[in-house]
Amino acid sequence: MSKTSHTFKLNGEQITVEAEDDVRLLWVLRDLLGVTGPKYGCGLGVCQACTSHINGKAFNPCSVPVSKIEPGDEITTIEGLPATVGKDLHPMQEAWLELDVAQCGYCQPGQIMAAVAKVRQAAAAGREIGDADLDEIRNICRCGTYTRIREAIKAGAKGM
Ligand code: FES
Ligand code: FES
Repeated sequence: MSKTSHTFKLNGEQITVEAEDDVRLLWVLRDLLGVTGPKYGCGLGVCQACTSHINGKAFNPCSVPVSKIEPGDEITTIEGLPATVGKDLHPMQEAWLELDVAQCGYCQPGQIMAAVAKVRQAAAAGREIGDADLDEIRNICRCGTYTRIREAIKAGAKGM
């Protein structure tokens, strides 16, 4: 298959990249654009290690062919998260550091992106994030940092 141009907004910048239509966005981000915050775990939409945002909502770039991304779509990865609040670190990242959440760290960019999206979703429904929301986050952590993740999401949500 021949390469075509794909244009979209990535972390605040309009970019154009040449790639075959069926290449998954995760590989475009990591291999072609050098944006390696979204991690590769399963490539099947299961582990959630690649979790990023499309138009402010969580999604898995490993499961989306680059041709499905529209020019008006805005992709945010962990690299672009602080700029969404105009700071060096997003409040969720500050909470993560405060509570010393990470162990090996591999799953953590995806965990933070999932957390921010979930807090936004609860806020859009007019409520604070609760345990039922946290139960819906399916990001896998092989190191088992789940208890600290839950505490950090509640703490980070207070700063959002
Ligand atoms: S790598 Fe995307 S969900 Fe596992
Ligand atoms: S901190 Fe190691 S996989 Fe989550």
